Amino acid sequence: MNPETNEAPVMPTPEILDQMDACIYQVAIFRAALELQIWAKVAAGEDTADRIAASQHWDPLGTRMLLDDLCAFKLLAKEGNRYRLLPEAECYLLPDKPTYMGRYLLSDFGWEGNGQLAEAIRTGKRSIGYNATTIELADTWIGVYSRSWAAPETYLGRCDEMWRTLGIQGRNGLRVLDVACGPAPRSLALARAHPGVRVTLLDWEKILTVAGKVAADLGVKTQVTLLQGDLWRVPYGSNLYDVIYLGNITHFFSPEQNTRLFRKTHKALIPGGTLVTNAVRRESPDPMGPALWFYAISEGGAPYEFQEYKDMLERAGYSDIVDVNSQPIRATKRS
Ligand SMILES: C[S@@+](CC[C@H](N)C(=O)[O-])C[C@H]1O[C@@H](n2cnc3c(N)ncnc32)[C@H](O)[C@@H]1O
Repeated sequence: MNPETNEAPVMPTPEILDQMDACIYQVAIFRAALELQIWAKVAAGEDTADRIAASQHWDPLGTRMLLDDLCAFKLLAKEGNRYRLLPEAECYLLPDKPTYMGRYLLSDFGWEGNGQLAEAIRTGKRSIGYNATTIELADTWIGVYSRSWAAPETYLGRCDEMWRTLGIQGRNGLRVLDVACGPAPRSLALARAHPGVRVTLLDWEKILTVAGKVAADLGVKTQVTLLQGDLWRVPYGSNLYDVIYLGNITHFFSPEQNTRLFRKTHKALIPGGTLVTNAVRRESPDPMGPALWFYAISEGGAPYEFQEYKDMLERAGYSDIVDVNSQPIRATKRS
């Protein structure tokens, strides 16, 4: 009580903490459901709690509570005592679908090394959990991009828009290197825009197998060369490319590593060639991935600001460094 005003101090409600607490519960329940492959069981006709519990020899009470909680999270629907899949589960949570995301989601629970984040911040030692730039993560990336692999048309329009904003057009003989390409949405969009564009895709072998299929689906396979292996070890050559694209990879590297990568791309570009760096930036954080995620799953990465990229790019020899729409950064190798 404030003796002067005779009023009780205003006490904030702990709403934000309650929300955090709810997330803690939800994560554990979702994890159990993924481990138990609940959606596959429902899809196979085990559509009541009693049926699943009986066929799997699970605890009936725990089974029913899990199913009901999944309904509350909108990851399952219920009519009477029968459960059914919602479209998102049908598409992404059935392990026999090429768009299955469960394997990657399960591996993602370990992103902070099961409680190692505080220690990493104390000591600066990372990566913890897993390292985003190792070959072991190839399956994870395949899961992350399952929608892109399965339906490339859904993102190609946005990619065309990016090239337009950057002032880069497909033309006869335009040579593009896409480093750490993943599903290669941007460079394949450029290949699709003009039959004279030649694209080289660089990533781990497993990723390139899928990216090659996407290129075939899009009808641009003959325009594409695959370069498999570690982006640090594979030679890019000298004076070979008009455009090099680095998409969503540089936020996993330290400033020193990025400067090294930018030097390597600088050598591989023709004079007057363009490097495009697209990454999650500190000025425009990724709503889906907090900055500490990038920190925890790499040895030196973080979302950087434009000025930090500009410094790294200048150190590597680039000029005319432009922030295009606060996302891709365009840099030029002097003619
Ligand atoms: C976040 S994804 C980005 C994919 C794509 N560039 C995009 O912007 O959508 C990162 C990609 O980098 C690849 N990658 C990571 N480290 C790599 C390395 N050391 N060598 C080759 N590829 C690597 C991964 O396999 C994955 O496909």
